Amino acid sequence: MYLIENLNKDFKDGDGVCCALRNVNLSISTGKMVAIVGKSGSGKSTLFNILGAIDRPTSGKITVEDKNLAAFSEEELCRYRSETVGFVFQSFHIIESYTVYDNIELPLIISKVPKAKRDEMIKQAAKRVGLSDKLKTRCNRLSGGEKQRTAIARAFVHSPKIILADEPCGNLDSRNSESVMELLRGFVSRDTLVMMITHSKADAALCDRIITLSDGTVVSDEALR
Ligand SMILES: Nc1ncnc2c1ncn2[C@@H]1O[C@H](COP(=O)(O)OP(=O)(O)OP(=O)(O)O)[C@@H](O)[C@H]1O
Ligand SMILES: [Mg+2]
Repeated sequence: MYLIENLNKDFKDGDGVCCALRNVNLSISTGKMVAIVGKSGSGKSTLFNILGAIDRPTSGKITVEDKNLAAFSEEELCRYRSETVGFVFQSFHIIESYTVYDNIELPLIISKVPKAKRDEMIKQAAKRVGLSDKLKTRCNRLSGGEKQRTAIARAFVHSPKIILADEPCGNLDSRNSESVMELLRGFVSRDTLVMMITHSKADAALCDRIITLSDGTVVSDEALR
């Protein structure tokens, strides 16, 4: 799915430069749940932002489905962000004043799915995360676990190939974390990939592969299953 070659990302930092990623090389295939671990500031979110085409690398090459991400036109990037990847964040990033239904609908509007088709897709996604009875509830009335399940339904409602989850369990208690891990695991199939940033050893151990970053470089890459 992803072939990452000699990836570097520098940020201007006052008068100096912060090398957030240095010479990262990885090959990541579908059918897997991959954990990205490492201390705070090691470059995990920077890597995700680049893989999700939210940010551009300073140098290096990322091939996704045999195409060079750096060579994508603006239109191709938009399509990639709205159709190929789904994001889940620690702080949920849902619109609190919208209902569960309206939040899940957002990516479908962006990728111009016709209204008649959207309704069924939203209901299916809500069912999958156990929120069928909350579709009309405003998100500011939901618990943390329910907000994250709304965010997960929104991330996979349009059947993306890749889910990028940046500390999805970071704000959740152990019971809610377990349900989020199960939902993410359930998304993995032969043609899909889940990448998850975590600070939890227990959650990383539930993944198929653990990639450790330190100071912007890959220091360990372990296949668990
Ligand atoms: N927009 C930015 N401008 C300047 N420096 C940045 C920017 N984004 C990240 N950095 C720097 O890049 C490095 C890597 O940051 P990143 O957010 O990727 O870390 P992280 O591994 O996700 O950490 P955490 O576990 O705390 O989320 C840090 O030193 C950070 O200060
Ligand atoms: Mg981070």
